Amino acid sequence: MKLINSAFLLSLIPLALALENGLMRTPPMGWLSWERFRCNTDCKSDPHNCISEKLFMDMADRLAMDGWRELGYVYVNIDDCWTAKERSATGQLIPDPERFPSGIKALADYVHGRGLKLGIYGDIGTFTCGGYPGTTLDRIEQDALTFAQWGVDMLKFDGCYSSSDVQAQGYPKMSKALNATGRPIAYSCSWPAYRGGLPPQVNYTLLANICNLWRNYDDIQDSWDSVLSIVDWFFTNQDVLQPVAGPGHWNDPDMLIIGNFGLSYEQARSQMALWTIMAAPLFMSTDLRTISESAKEILQNKLMIKINQDPLGIQGRRILQEKSHIEVFLRPLSHSANALVFFSRRTDMPYRYTTSLVHLNFTQDVVYEAQDVYTGQIISGLKAADNFTVVVNPSGVVMWYLYPTMYLDQPFSFVQQHPEARKARPFTL
Ligand code: GLA
Repeated sequence: MKLINSAFLLSLIPLALALENGLMRTPPMGWLSWERFRCNTDCKSDPHNCISEKLFMDMADRLAMDGWRELGYVYVNIDDCWTAKERSATGQLIPDPERFPSGIKALADYVHGRGLKLGIYGDIGTFTCGGYPGTTLDRIEQDALTFAQWGVDMLKFDGCYSSSDVQAQGYPKMSKALNATGRPIAYSCSWPAYRGGLPPQVNYTLLANICNLWRNYDDIQDSWDSVLSIVDWFFTNQDVLQPVAGPGHWNDPDMLIIGNFGLSYEQARSQMALWTIMAAPLFMSTDLRTISESAKEILQNKLMIKINQDPLGIQGRRILQEKSHIEVFLRPLSHSANALVFFSRRTDMPYRYTTSLVHLNFTQDVVYEAQDVYTGQIISGLKAADNFTVVVNPSGVVMWYLYPTMYLDQPFSFVQQHPEARKARPFTL
């Protein structure tokens, strides 16, 4: 009996070793330099836009002063090209002295002083993707300690210039090394993106145990084509990807490009809605100093963020692809609510899509209320069998926050039966 018990206890050990840094119980939100600012190191001719401490201080100022921080956008994340071309005499990673003259510790203090967190970038290979010093296996502990000493809060760990063997050793090793520093440092792994993103090359159970989020697929670029290719890949593979996401461990379809040059207004709204359905991290990569009011409005939509940050952390799915080129996506939320997205792949004109909640697999005998996430409009008394019509613009979305209000033909309301559902009410926009 004793033996059985200890065998049982032993079987629990792998669980106990899981990444339990307690971080990112909801998808992380913030800003990341890469898509918009790339590896621009030319501070002589382009001082305003080059990868330098000034850029990150500017973005920290904007996050703190323009309403972003209060909404949850708290990470200011450095991507590639921040280091000097060589390590220091003692083998430490050091920032480029001309572009980061005050050092990363000072930048972390600056960011923390504004109630924000600082993220940094490394690579398990011999070089980063941009050709800067990598963190080879023998450097992992040293670099993790350096980041912790600087007061860094998150690491994006890339996989350029490394073999699959090195990745298999290095990603878990860095996870342990970060935990061993004693500083809570969230860990973003690019590992699956280098292994084709899918089983059998990718072990998502292992990833969820060692990483807080992971890049599964190609880099986003500033174009609608790029957004669509990411959407296609993630929803085509949703049977694999959907179950592996949850509090503390997220799929990452890459940055939001809203506010840049490649998306129309409708497309920007679609990226935001679809990323929210995916329970995706919301890392903006745009110039917050010059962002338009309309892009800001999309990114700062409170109901959208509430849905993205739903505490259950269930990733949504595509539930329908209609012949009309309308697609329907659904994400279950807490308190019996759901998010629904109607997305048009059409290229002609606004499409009047008529359907019913029963057609979308909702329970027949329940009455619902819906709140349009972008307009705030409320549609009450929607019986599951009732037909309704949404008008979806080309490459645009209509997004609903939907919650049950009562049963049909029963003397008590849905809320009386399910008291927790009382918490899902129209949201004050
Ligand atoms: C890879 C990553 C990008 C970015 C660049 C930096 O391509 O996927 O997100 O970090 O490297 O060089």
